[in-house]
Amino acid sequence: MVQLSLQTLLPIALCLSSFASAAPVDGLTKRAPKVLGLDFDVVKAPLNETLSSLVKRGTPNSPLINKSYYYITYLLLGSNKQKIGVDIDTGSSDLWVPNSQTSGTVKEYGYYDPSKSTTAKDIHKSFKINYGDKTSSTGEFYTDTVSLGDGSGKLSNFQFASISSTSVSQSGILGIGLNTLEANVVYNGDVPYNNFPLALKNAGYIDNAIYSLYLNTPDATGGSILFGGKDVAKIDGPLITLQHSGEYNRLDITVDSVTVAGNQITVSAPFNLDSGSTVSYFPTDSFNQIVDSLGGDTSNLFYKRPTVACSAATGNLSFTFHGITIDVPLSDIVLETGDGGCFINLFGTDEEAILGDNFLRRAYVIYNLENSEISLGKPKYTTASSIVSL
Ligand SMILES: *[C@@H]1O[C@H](CO)[C@@H](O)[C@H](O)[C@H]1NC(C)=O
Ligand SMILES: *[C@@H]1O[C@H](CO)[C@@H](O)[C@H](O)[C@H]1NC(C)=O
Ligand SMILES: *[C@@H]1O[C@H](CO)[C@@H](O)[C@H](O)[C@H]1NC(C)=O
Repeated sequence: MVQLSLQTLLPIALCLSSFASAAPVDGLTKRAPKVLGLDFDVVKAPLNETLSSLVKRGTPNSPLINKSYYYITYLLLGSNKQKIGVDIDTGSSDLWVPNSQTSGTVKEYGYYDPSKSTTAKDIHKSFKINYGDKTSSTGEFYTDTVSLGDGSGKLSNFQFASISSTSVSQSGILGIGLNTLEANVVYNGDVPYNNFPLALKNAGYIDNAIYSLYLNTPDATGGSILFGGKDVAKIDGPLITLQHSGEYNRLDITVDSVTVAGNQITVSAPFNLDSGSTVSYFPTDSFNQIVDSLGGDTSNLFYKRPTVACSAATGNLSFTFHGITIDVPLSDIVLETGDGGCFINLFGTDEEAILGDNFLRRAYVIYNLENSEISLGKPKYTTASSIVSL
């Protein structure tokens, strides 16, 4: 999910270095690969969880339709390894987990009980985060031992929030964005702490705060993140590297244009690549042109989205970046309402644009937090694997 800023933040200073991913120095000194793989389950939930109001049509007859995706990975927290499932979110930068006081479905993946961990420490600092979908969480920061679900990547005294109240329904959230986007930094001007990717680097598990996101096909039940590396078997063709657009305090990259139904639409706007957003959000003007190109109807909405003839689900919505085009099949975007019709699963916005899951599943994305760059390639959907460190 995109974490809300109180104001447009100053662009972060870019210090772009040109000595990118060094090749092995010589054939004899082979560096031990420092890569940490994090697998996740793809969990599908009803669309209405994210948007319930302003439904113009009646609720469809068929049970709605698992159209929201969450990427749940398990972490082990505390000396007694409390297993908690969290949603991996590239659009925010804090880890929080529900505690025993939290109510609702958010506890279904487990909750944190610091009283059961001998390494838990309340650092007496409150935490509150507001997300772009109008949900929020409040609680208290702790430090404790945290590792990946398989026990690897053990971090001592890692800072995260124990949440007593939240309107997020799916699970806790593992935000892995830039540390300058941590909630307390954005809202209170605090000094950033080492969030998950930086803590992995500091502990020596990876050389650089870089990770690769492979969401897999829309049908897949799992995907993976590689911290400190990339899986070249899962990349089809070249990877191109794009610099942070600099307009927001997030890792945004600029979409030059999109092509849909034979129309090329100039976009030229920064987009955040957000695994925590099920939907993609376009600047209003380009959104309207996409909807028009598809013959969509904005006066007849389905969960706030334009309805459209189901025949629009053919061909691609193609995104052109500087140097690469990523094709998203329109069958990923034009979805069935469940009562015979279809809708366009996109939004228009006057705020920051977002490329959510429906884009990210069709790309291989490397987030470089070290120098604020994104590398983008076409994904190769395969179980084959060939991992190199970055
Ligand atoms: C979504 O639908 C489910 C099942 O119909 C319902 O239990 C739940 O309360 C709905 N959620 C919202 C936010 O409307
Ligand atoms: C939605 O997904 C859940 C779990 O993945 C599954 O149990 C449920 O049957 C699905 N519902 C529909 C309507 O496909
Ligand atoms: C859509 O994109 C895919 C993947 O790049 C490509 O194979 C296919 O030909 C495209 N379809 C059309 C109608 O352009």
